[in-house]
Amino acid sequence: MAVSAYQPASHARVVNFRHDLDLSTEHLHGVLDLARQMKQSRQRYASALKGRYVALLFEKPSLRTRMTFELAIKQLGGDFVTQIGLIAEREPIKDVARNLARWTDAIVARTYSQQTVEELAQWSELPVVNALSDLYHPCQALADMLTLKEHFGRLRGLKLAYVGDGNNVAHSLLLCCARFGIHCSIATPAGYEPAAGIVKEASQLANGSQIEISNDPVSAVHSAHSVYTDVWASMGQESEAAERNKVFAAYQVNEELLGKARKDAVFMHCLPAKRGQEVTDAVIESAQSVVFDQAENRLHAQKALLLMLLQ
Ligand code: CP
Ligand code: NVA
Repeated sequence: MAVSAYQPASHARVVNFRHDLDLSTEHLHGVLDLARQMKQSRQRYASALKGRYVALLFEKPSLRTRMTFELAIKQLGGDFVTQIGLIAEREPIKDVARNLARWTDAIVARTYSQQTVEELAQWSELPVVNALSDLYHPCQALADMLTLKEHFGRLRGLKLAYVGDGNNVAHSLLLCCARFGIHCSIATPAGYEPAAGIVKEASQLANGSQIEISNDPVSAVHSAHSVYTDVWASMGQESEAAERNKVFAAYQVNEELLGKARKDAVFMHCLPAKRGQEVTDAVIESAQSVVFDQAENRLHAQKALLLMLLQ
């Protein structure tokens, strides 16, 4: 997996959300603060995007991301059009992008390749939001940071342990943890570590927090405030699922592993979850699980993000 070129975010305004690093630390804090205000007062922002149109493009299935973007736009008084299917099936991405630019004010895209997100941004010159690609899931990480902040009252100094596949969700968590001063410890089977380029970016960004990558789930969850996991085979990797189920068997988040984290630790998962694989039913249904808070916060974080991009 190639890591796409990173251009530093403007400090003046947010232009795109192609990946986590399009938002500066200040922008990230701003999004979380705005999301909390919006969560408290839906009515206050009911016309904020009146007359604005967003194109939603989904190359892969979705429940949470699609529903929460559609609801976010509706709750802000805007409107959307949705297309499901491969973006470049009938014409090049650069042509799709320039068509959308003539009709809409922003693009939200769930893609196979990160390159598709980059090209949509380059050719449309509209704000483009990554709604999950092979490399990143930045909207998920935003909601996760909001959830942790609500739960613990702070972010700096927390420890998040991610156990499982070094995938798109892990990459966005790494970058967001680094931005917010959260210690991030990732444990994967050998050969399934996060992309080296993204680990390097996170390590360089980390301001007083530690970024650790290992193959040891027990040491990763030690003293963690959050134990996070995701599916072992992501969308597009279905043919590898049987092999991955064997390789990842020792990386299941069960009561024994969660019990090695802090007593007040929360269990987190972006969903959808495969119970009995990366997480047991007992853990995801336990009092420590905040998975539906995360899902709820997708809505509020994305409302704040859209407002920052479109205001
Ligand atoms: N967490 C998440 O992105 O869920 P969906 O795939 O349902 O959108
Ligand atoms: N890593 C998963 C996340 C789904 C929200 C996938 O890409 O399928």
